[in-house]
Amino acid sequence: MDVKMSQRKMEESLQYSKLKDMADEKKLFLEKIIWVHHWTESLFSFRIERPNSFRFRSGEFIMIGLNDNKKPLLRAYSIVSPNWEEHLEFFSIKVPDGPLTSRLQHLKEGDHLFLGKKPTGTLVTDALKSGKRLFMVGTGTGLAPFLSVLRDPETHEKFDEIVLTHTVREEKELAYRSFLEKEIYSDEIFGELLGNRFTYYPTVTRSEFRTEGRITDRIRSGAFAKDLKLTSKKFNPQTDRVMVCGSMAFNKDMSSMLEEHGLKEGSNSTPGSFVIERAFVG
Ligand code: A2P
Repeated sequence: MDVKMSQRKMEESLQYSKLKDMADEKKLFLEKIIWVHHWTESLFSFRIERPNSFRFRSGEFIMIGLNDNKKPLLRAYSIVSPNWEEHLEFFSIKVPDGPLTSRLQHLKEGDHLFLGKKPTGTLVTDALKSGKRLFMVGTGTGLAPFLSVLRDPETHEKFDEIVLTHTVREEKELAYRSFLEKEIYSDEIFGELLGNRFTYYPTVTRSEFRTEGRITDRIRSGAFAKDLKLTSKKFNPQTDRVMVCGSMAFNKDMSSMLEEHGLKEGSNSTPGSFVIERAFVG
């Protein structure tokens, strides 16, 4: 090993011990980044190793972050991975002047990240009464928790049909599209299970697309029901369950519409017919 390399290794190991001390003091895990993927100039995903003792329910979020001037800088992130997966995956936007995402986007394999110890959240099937159809309706990075819920076997025990919608401004922002359109069907566990019970419904608002416009507008106009061959353009409070994840404005619009259709918001302590969570931004 040449001198420069061994010097670099020593610096890395010193840096790691400092971060580990900070993590221990703040009751956080310190985990290694094992994969990074950039979808566009403003969207990326990454995976970290999963500590053996880290348990969560599919759909929950957790605090993650970096060292910022001798203090952990943490933000809430929905976990993309289902609860059985060996690693933990996250989906993030890059906010140019966002304190955390402006730095997170430069992370590479081998770097380390703080991970909280208390996952929580309401986008979990436990917060929904049993029903027949599950609609997961999201915008932007609000897709993240649905990728988790979709791959949890419990979701498939609880619901006969699953519809996942994703609304973005430009087509290129449809992250995970090829996974949801193709690859998921060759998954050992889910391929067969999903069969014709699963529909992925992307919509794009600011460029031409086969299903153009806001999902809220497409639901109201009946275009959504027509495309999915649903008998009514309204959700059915007896059989339909809905999870909503997006911006504040989107969540507000969706929840008013769902309430107009007779659905009631649920929580972990009082399951209902729909649940809402804000998509987190850095
Ligand atoms: P639009 O382009 O019409 O604003 P953003 O990037 O601002 O978070 O938005 C992500 C996607 O969510 C965009 O396609 C945007 O559509 C859509 N969106 C934003 N606000 C709402 C809302 N109140 N109802 C429905 N869709 C919304």
